[in-house]
Amino acid sequence: MIQRSSSYSSHPPPMLGRALVTLAYLAPCFCKVYEDVTQLPGLSYDFVIVGGGTAGNVVANRLTENPDFSVLVLEAGVSNEGVTDSIVPFLVESLLQPNIYEWNYTTVPQPGLNGRNVGNPRAHILGGCSAHNGMVYTRGSVDDYNRFAAVTGDPGWSWDRLLPYFFKNEKWTPPVDHHDTQGQYNPAVHSTKGINSVSLGRLYWPIFSKHVIESTKELPDEWPFNLDMNSGKPLGLGWIQSTIGGGMRSTSATSYLGPEFIHRQNLHVLLHAQVSKLVDAGRVSGKLTFGGVQFAQGGSFFTAKAAKEIILSAGSVGTPNILLHSGIGDEAALTALDIPSLLDLPSVGKNATDQPVFGLGWTVNSTQTLESISQNETRFNEAFAQWNRSHNGPFSAGGTTHLGWLRLDPQTLATNNFTDPSAGHNSPHIEVSFTPGSLSAPPGSNALSAGIAVLNPVSRGSVTINSSNPFDSPVIDVGFLQSDIDVFTGREAIKKVLKLFEAPTWQDYIIAPIVDVENLSDDALNQFIRNSASSAFHLVGTAAMSAKDARYGVVDPDLLVKGTIGLRIIDASVFPYVPSAHTQAATYVVAERGADLVKEAWE
Ligand SMILES: Cc1cc2nc3c(=O)[nH]c(=O)nc-3n(C[C@H](O)[C@H](O)[C@H](O)COP(=O)(O)OP(=O)(O)OC[C@H]3O[C@@H](n4cnc5c(N)ncnc54)[C@H](O)[C@@H]3O)c2cc1C
Ligand SMILES: *[C@@H]1O[C@H](CO)[C@@H](O)[C@H](O)[C@H]1NC(C)=O
Ligand SMILES: *[C@@H]1O[C@H](CO)[C@@H](O)[C@H](O)[C@H]1NC(C)=O
Ligand SMILES: *[C@@H]1O[C@H](CO)[C@@H](O)[C@H](O)[C@H]1NC(C)=O
Ligand SMILES: *[C@@H]1O[C@H](CO)[C@@H](O)[C@H](O)[C@H]1NC(C)=O
Ligand SMILES: *[C@@H]1O[C@H](CO)[C@@H](O)[C@H](O)[C@H]1NC(C)=O
Ligand SMILES: *[C@@H]1O[C@H](CO)[C@@H](O)[C@H](O)[C@H]1NC(C)=O
Ligand SMILES: *[C@@H]1O[C@H](CO)[C@@H](O)[C@H](O)[C@H]1NC(C)=O
Ligand SMILES: *[C@@H]1O[C@H](CO)[C@@H](O)[C@H](O)[C@H]1NC(C)=O
Repeated sequence: MIQRSSSYSSHPPPMLGRALVTLAYLAPCFCKVYEDVTQLPGLSYDFVIVGGGTAGNVVANRLTENPDFSVLVLEAGVSNEGVTDSIVPFLVESLLQPNIYEWNYTTVPQPGLNGRNVGNPRAHILGGCSAHNGMVYTRGSVDDYNRFAAVTGDPGWSWDRLLPYFFKNEKWTPPVDHHDTQGQYNPAVHSTKGINSVSLGRLYWPIFSKHVIESTKELPDEWPFNLDMNSGKPLGLGWIQSTIGGGMRSTSATSYLGPEFIHRQNLHVLLHAQVSKLVDAGRVSGKLTFGGVQFAQGGSFFTAKAAKEIILSAGSVGTPNILLHSGIGDEAALTALDIPSLLDLPSVGKNATDQPVFGLGWTVNSTQTLESISQNETRFNEAFAQWNRSHNGPFSAGGTTHLGWLRLDPQTLATNNFTDPSAGHNSPHIEVSFTPGSLSAPPGSNALSAGIAVLNPVSRGSVTINSSNPFDSPVIDVGFLQSDIDVFTGREAIKKVLKLFEAPTWQDYIIAPIVDVENLSDDALNQFIRNSASSAFHLVGTAAMSAKDARYGVVDPDLLVKGTIGLRIIDASVFPYVPSAHTQAATYVVAERGADLVKEAWE
């Protein structure tokens, strides 16, 4: 029996290794998140979940609702406990630098970005990207999910059938300042009974917000007001909703592994445990099976056994990386790296899809901007102190106040010979985020910014490996702006944003553009986009689901890896397309339904 200690032990465990593998699962309650493998009562479980990220913790929570199932979550990253930059909504930026909360990935040079490479942050912390993302809560459109259903042949992925899962996930929460939210969202499309908090922000930037809302009155055809962009019909402009509750970030770790759940006797979470590959391969009726996963901690290797299923929730980079190192992928590519190929599944890591983003900024005639805090240390400290006292004030939210969702004009698409890349007429092509401040504001000025995202990129990239060492970084290619329509969409977005800021309401507010793009030729606009675009960090599709009989794809519509038994993938890598939205809500909903699919198989 292994001794458990209440604090992190830096001493190498004396008797670990294969001996541990044979330990049976023991019943006593250990009731928490473990830092050291020696603290675990054993390494044999019904389910082993790889990755305690956004999706993984949902699955862990739902499976352990059944007291007969034992679950181990293996997370490579560190604890989220007390990580101020993750808890305080305003401080998110500092988490994205190279630090212990980060995998520190970058993409390969992107030809579509004139050879630049761009960061591809992935969280290395319990809660995964939900613990370091921008907290924007957007579900996408009915068409996005109906397209999931159509390409997989499974109506279970349609909007109507997923709505109950959105509701299981979402715990609608009043904003921290308790302002009157009438006219800012539609309660009918939200749930107060789910697990992860979602709220409107505090009304901290009323002057800026007034101008944004006024634009929807002055330009109702181009920029109609949308009461609630999470109704499945997101087109228009409305108030941002965020995964924040009580002025604090809500993550899959703080919610799904919250105090009311983490004490379940059948739920164990191990940190600092990086899975290298699937092991104990076998065959059952011609299909590939694995008995467990190999992971490393503190320089030693261990094996965790899964009697029922291994569930990969390591995210759009981690999941294909583990599959490839386990011999599942393109056979020729694996053989070239001397990795024995166990299953030729060429789609692993292919069709990687991410949304390019870039921004426009203006200086403004107002001091009610983020610069008033970010450029003034006194105000910054005051705001921080206010948050420390009350979880209120500007630090209780991110900077963005509103989001707009637009479609390209059908006529413009047609005359340029482009096929509509969106999932349907409710799906926007363009997102514009409105922020009373800009990272490129000149010192001493105040600014606003409009962030533009190309939501349905046609370009595809890949996540591959170029080494047989599972601890080497995978090769991430987001394939940005390879297709003409992606650049075209960016250009059209700029034109629409410039028109918006010509509305009368902005005339006394805006002073001058920070970078003037107003009269640029299309070629010059293309260069502006290629030279400034970066990633929305919405990488998906690297282990995509497809119909049962499809000749491509990685998982079936029930998320089981094609050609295997007992191996499932539940995370953002299974999306067959990126939704016309930020991707965490879609990840949560895929995880909620994914957990139900597992339960259906075993209950
Ligand atoms: C910087 C950033 C900002 C974003 N902003 C937003 C936003 O504002 N709104 C929004 O909706 N979406 C946003 N997203 C996207 C969204 O957060 C992700 O799409 C979603 O959280 C992905 O969830 P996941 O479960 O697939 O992966 P993750 O949440 O990344 O979880 C994967 C987990 O697996 C672990 N892991 C990986 N490999 C291994 C291994 N070998 N062994 C053990 N553990 C492993 C990782 O450490 C991680 O904890 C953002 C993403 C990023 C990176
Ligand atoms: C990312 O970089 C930081 C700083 O160099 C380092 O401490 C951290 O361990 C790195 N993350 C990983 C997963 O290697
Ligand atoms: C990529 O996805 C498309 C469908 O969107 C499919 O036709 C194609 O085969 C996929 N490619 C790979 C390598 O999986
Ligand atoms: C800013 O607005 C004030 C009135 O509110 C006006 O007097 C001033 O000229 C404006 N400044 C600029 C630079 O537009
Ligand atoms: C910074 O903020 C403080 C407190 O509000 C204020 O007194 C000071 O003038 C500000 N400094 C500048 C340079 O604006
Ligand atoms: C707020 O609390 C954090 C974490 O305890 C601390 O690091 C920070 O200095 C505090 N800031 C202020 C201004 O009180
Ligand atoms: C669109 O296709 C038509 C017919 O092939 C061609 O004449 C026209 O030049 C194309 N337009 C553009 C903008 O490429
Ligand atoms: C693998 O790719 C990375 C870029 O992601 C590069 O730095 C590295 O040199 C490559 N290694 C090999 C062996 O090709
Ligand atoms: C752009 O061109 C228009 C029309 O020629 C002109 O009125 C406007 O001042 C120009 N804008 C800039 C910023 O040069």
